[in-house]
Amino acid sequence: MSELYEPYDKLIPIEVLGRRFELPENNLLLRQLAFVAADIAWGRYCWNGECRYCEIHYCREDGPENELGAAQRRRATGGFRGGAHADRGEA
Ligand code: FES
Repeated sequence: MSELYEPYDKLIPIEVLGRRFELPENNLLLRQLAFVAADIAWGRYCWNGECRYCEIHYCREDGPENELGAAQRRRATGGFRGGAHADRGEA
């Protein structure tokens, strides 16, 4: 397990733009996504809530159909479905 990630016991299935991924539980979504796309970790993200580059549309299994949130503040759980970056207008 890398030091980049919070401790986790298993990978959880989520869907992003119609593709299914297995990501480490108990981690912030932006970090979870870096698990399958390493370039995210070195992208132009501020990681502290100022740039808003990480805002995405998403749905949770037990939540409203379309929420907007910052990927560096959310933790995806099973049943999570993410859409595109908020600026692109794709959900
Ligand atoms: S990474 Fe900058 S606001 Fe989320």
